[in-house]
Amino acid sequence: MPDGAGLEQLRAAAAGCAGCELHGPATQTVFSSGSPLARLAFVGEQPGDAEDRQGAPFVGPAGRLLDHALEQAGIDRADAYVTNAVKHFRFTRTPQRRLHQTPDLAHLTACRPWLVAELAVVDPEVVVCLGATAARTLLGPSFRVTRQRGILYPRTARSDDATLVQSGWMMGTVHPSSVLRADDRDAALAGLVADLGVAAAALVPA
Ligand code: URA
Repeated sequence: MPDGAGLEQLRAAAAGCAGCELHGPATQTVFSSGSPLARLAFVGEQPGDAEDRQGAPFVGPAGRLLDHALEQAGIDRADAYVTNAVKHFRFTRTPQRRLHQTPDLAHLTACRPWLVAELAVVDPEVVVCLGATAARTLLGPSFRVTRQRGILYPRTARSDDATLVQSGWMMGTVHPSSVLRADDRDAALAGLVADLGVAAAALVPA
């Protein structure tokens, strides 16, 4: 982890990350996309098949659902920073395709320094965790999306004199893939859009 690195240095360093075994089978590190000046950041779980091939987060089916939800919530994705808790695709191979596997705690722990560093550089006003994996890594292992989604929690940072100060907000909500899998997709989408609306409303008026 390069000391005092900016976003592009972090991205370049993460491209060679071998901090866990996931870098072997994956095509590439998928670091992040979006503005380093973003006031809103979205953190997913890990790249999927499309993201692994294209090298950018949320560009596959879950990304299209996210784009749709953002649009409905009046959020411009171009103004947001988008990243993942784990930067390599974890999968098993079947003859037909590569099947997503949820990352283990060891993968989350290995990747956490990248996430912490990039969020410290971007320093968004609101960080939205998309799904349980991202929420647990940033909001703690006891976080439950079903009970705690849509609630804003203070995000703290160390000030120059090492005291903890509030630096914006954190929120957890469902993962866009869960909306794609939901029996009542309209209701699930409406729930996600409502949570995104809470995040957008927490931004300091420009
Ligand atoms: N799911 C995620 O959590 N992140 C992506 O980038 C794509 C799918």
